[in-house]
Amino acid sequence: MSRAAVLCGLGGALPERIVSNEELAAQLDTSDRWIRTRTGIGQRHVVAPGQSTSDLAVAAGAQALASARGTAGQPDDGVDLVVLATSTPDRPCPATAPDVAHRLGLGGVASFDVSAVCTGFVYALATAASMITAGVAGRALVIGADTFSTILDPADRTTRAIFGDGAGAVVLRAGEAGEPGALLGFDLGSDGSGTDLITVRAGGSRQRSVPGPAAAGEEFFTMDGRPVFTRAVLDMSRSSQNLLERVGWSTAEVDKVVAHQANIRILNAVGEQLGLEEKQIVANLDRVGNTVAASIPLALRDAVAGGELQPGHRVLLTGFGGGLTWGSAALVWPELETGRPHR
Ligand code: COA
Repeated sequence: MSRAAVLCGLGGALPERIVSNEELAAQLDTSDRWIRTRTGIGQRHVVAPGQSTSDLAVAAGAQALASARGTAGQPDDGVDLVVLATSTPDRPCPATAPDVAHRLGLGGVASFDVSAVCTGFVYALATAASMITAGVAGRALVIGADTFSTILDPADRTTRAIFGDGAGAVVLRAGEAGEPGALLGFDLGSDGSGTDLITVRAGGSRQRSVPGPAAAGEEFFTMDGRPVFTRAVLDMSRSSQNLLERVGWSTAEVDKVVAHQANIRILNAVGEQLGLEEKQIVANLDRVGNTVAASIPLALRDAVAGGELQPGHRVLLTGFGGGLTWGSAALVWPELETGRPHR
């Protein structure tokens, strides 16, 4: 049997404060009906003043480590790598992962951030899994965490309806290719010609290389919804098909597709492209919105907590996001000790 990275822990965290569609409609020219019918979202969680991405990442990471402890009955001190997917780091520099690792008491482990917006978790998973199979790491904590509420334009009804804050995490350990939980393959890609479709223009070296403050509003996140919608459907469908071919599964053999929770209409369109039945598609975006890098692990957590995702299920993960970027991963779902969900 060849060495593989095996998923053995799962956790997630959401900030306490819930913003309902009605609350948004009281502030902006929108309605519960518009948001529900155009996106499938009913509410989202947002951080409190002073709360940041690292706080959510630490809470989700702690829960995933506890889950791994319960699953494998092993101490955390085997963790030698922390990979944090985020596009809303606590600061532009240094990376947020070392602070998260430190606050989790993981000592001097290797740690770094991965930036691939909504595809961040799949990229981080592929990076950590590859480091484990290469023998560079033995046990990794992989976290997806974002607080997009901190970079949204308060007057933008579209992005404020869609995005929510959160964090999700998994633990990977070294194991063997045939085990449940072993990551069976990845498909990753990008298309930089779409850089401007999902972006924060200011705050980076390009804007800062010109003396003077950023133009008004350029520090906010912007998204061109229609082309993003089209590309999300196309790229997640194509990436899923590529990976299924490589892994040797037909779409009918997949029990659960856990796609990036961007918009229920995007999930349904991907389902249509792939020929999936509704029961194969996992969706939790009605309760959390689009939580960016946290989206896929939070959907996994909710699907496990709700009994929808069971040990032995063939699972396909697929994501799409800014960059543009996309990525998919496949595994057979393992038996996990997940404890009580943290909100
Ligand atoms: N409430 C009410 N009306 C809204 C609105 C809101 N929250 N947001 C946008 N609208 C309006 C638009 O201004 C537009 O009005 P106009 O026709 O007068 O110009 C109208 O609704 C239709 O806009 P359109 O962009 O065509 O709607 P849509 O059906 O494409 O839905 C999105 C908009 C953003 C929900 C959809 O394009 C989408 O989900 N895109 C992908 C977003 C995403 O997933 N991003 C992250 C990817 S990782």
